[in-house]
Amino acid sequence: MSSSLKGKRALIFGVASDDSIAWAIAQELAAHGATCVMGYQKRFLSRVLQLFKDKPWIEGYLECDVATEESVAGFFQQAAQKHPGNFDMMVHAIGFAPATALQDEVVRTTEADWNTALTVSSYSLVRLTRHTMPVMNAGGAILSLTYLGADRFVPGYRVMSAAKAALQELNRELAYTCGREKQVRVNTISAGPIRTLAGSGVPGFSTILDWMKHASPLARNVNQVDVAKSAYFLLSDLASGVTGQLLYVDAGYSIMGVPPDLDKLLGQAAAGTPPAPPTTPAAPTPASSPASAGPRAQPLIFGQKK
Ligand SMILES: NC(=O)c1ccc[n+]([C@@H]2O[C@H](COP(=O)([O-])OP(=O)(O)OC[C@H]3O[C@@H](n4cnc5c(N)ncnc54)[C@H](O)[C@@H]3O)[C@@H](O)[C@H]2O)c1
Repeated sequence: MSSSLKGKRALIFGVASDDSIAWAIAQELAAHGATCVMGYQKRFLSRVLQLFKDKPWIEGYLECDVATEESVAGFFQQAAQKHPGNFDMMVHAIGFAPATALQDEVVRTTEADWNTALTVSSYSLVRLTRHTMPVMNAGGAILSLTYLGADRFVPGYRVMSAAKAALQELNRELAYTCGREKQVRVNTISAGPIRTLAGSGVPGFSTILDWMKHASPLARNVNQVDVAKSAYFLLSDLASGVTGQLLYVDAGYSIMGVPPDLDKLLGQAAAGTPPAPPTTPAAPTPASSPASAGPRAQPLIFGQKK
């Protein structure tokens, strides 16, 4: 069994800048001998042209908007003509939600924003897999990227939590179908927060980065290279028996049940005083309802605009 990717070909979707996780994955695969055909979104054309220049391991690059069947079908038609032959790997590193959906409570998400977020971030894995499978070599591998907000509540991640939860379920569905049909493996990496174009669109992102560094077992953030090395593992023969799995690449943050330094966080150790007793909620009255009781009560979101 060899871990070399010499002679292997990858389809990579999701490079928008040199910060993109997909770009780190592509470079890692290339370092192990693979060549890549890239699918890029039109709005990032000028950035990717710079990036893809003078990279002999990039066979070519074609526009692909995963929001429409027409664009994805067009990508695969052009790829068949310009870069014929089968592939061994496909990377889906795509996520998007309209800013209006990220900036407001989920309860006010419009149907249109919901549809956009789930079509682009989740259904696109189905669409790309459906088009990739006919040109995928038996024993190939597919990889997507997800985030902890699919499993736990993460403030600010909003509609993307539902989109990533759907993606994680699709990871299992597609693993079964692709495994039975062609021995193709399908896995997903749950990456810790990383400063990228998409990451920076999440409200409170800098605070999330700081918190992860404080609270994770490795006491640091992860970076694109951390994710790329695990992507190489899952896409290569090293993971020949692994499919349908979710691998956390998050400096261990996801194992934490209680944050470190909890006493300090609660302001007890610094003050040297016994912990303040928890506030006993008063019986709800019209003047003191559960929604308005307590110092941390959120502004009302049902029935009236903040
Ligand atoms: N950055 C993080 O903190 C983080 C953490 C966990 C998971 N992820 C996931 O990693 C993946 C890559 O994101 P990233 O952080 O590298 O950011 P990025 O902004 O570099 O990449 C997101 C990509 O999605 C593409 N995209 C969006 N809408 C598209 C469409 N309609 N058609 C085609 N492509 C489209 C963009 O062109 C871009 O290349 C995403 O799935 C993201 O959700 C990111």
